[in-house]
Amino acid sequence: MTIAQITDLHVTTEKDPLNQRRNEARLRQVLNTIHGLRPRPVAIIASGDLVDRGEPEEYDELKRVMADCEIPVFYALGNHDDRKTFLQVFDGPDARVDENGFVQYAVDFGPVRVVVCDTLEGPNDGDYDPLRADWLARTLDAEPDKPTAVILHHPPIPSGIRWMDPDPESEWIKRLHDVLHGRRQVKMLMCGHIHRAFSGVFAGHSLCAAPATSIQLTLDLTEVDMHRPDGREILVEEPPGFALLMAHEGHLTTHTCLAGAFKPAVTYNFPFRTKA
Ligand SMILES: [Fe+2]
Repeated sequence: MTIAQITDLHVTTEKDPLNQRRNEARLRQVLNTIHGLRPRPVAIIASGDLVDRGEPEEYDELKRVMADCEIPVFYALGNHDDRKTFLQVFDGPDARVDENGFVQYAVDFGPVRVVVCDTLEGPNDGDYDPLRADWLARTLDAEPDKPTAVILHHPPIPSGIRWMDPDPESEWIKRLHDVLHGRRQVKMLMCGHIHRAFSGVFAGHSLCAAPATSIQLTLDLTEVDMHRPDGREILVEEPPGFALLMAHEGHLTTHTCLAGAFKPAVTYNFPFRTKA
């Protein structure tokens, strides 16, 4: 059983023609690759920055692109999203909210539970206030023995790409840590936001950030003066990608995948194992 994670779609409109064409083409490339996977994933989690400026027309565009998707899609929000506008356009079954109106919910997929969190605050930093943290604690405690993946747009640990990283002393990060720490059913934290795959550990749990379907962040781990632009490259047209969560023999693992059609290098024409 697998679940695909796509993130940082940054879908936009003809008002921004370069990004509209590029981000839609790259998103379609990712969706094509996911639809070709065997076994086919049972769901796609879109983990935020669904659109670029949080405008209703952008969410209409997102609906149009995702209408071809044959796999159920579950949405989370990122700092480029607008909660109210998203909920106006994606009403009905896509509008999954907690009792306080945050886009937070839990979904069971056979042996695995996925808990989608709403870390939207903006303009770039995440947030997780006491109301949201209380919901997460109660939601996790409802299924203490079921292997669970938690979806967070904002990684609560630094990637090393300085201009995107959070302040590790932020109150929201401490709050999130306190909820996740010791809740042993949590097997994987799956994030976006950094537009580049990286992994680490937070509150004792494995954390994986997926590459964007749109453009990637340049891998530049040097110091940066946040107040003095120096002309460095910060975003790059590396191939679009996604992550794949796999439940297998009691384990949850993630694969970081590139989208596209690649030429086979070797085919299975000899036994993998020979008899002793
Ligand atoms: Fe993004």
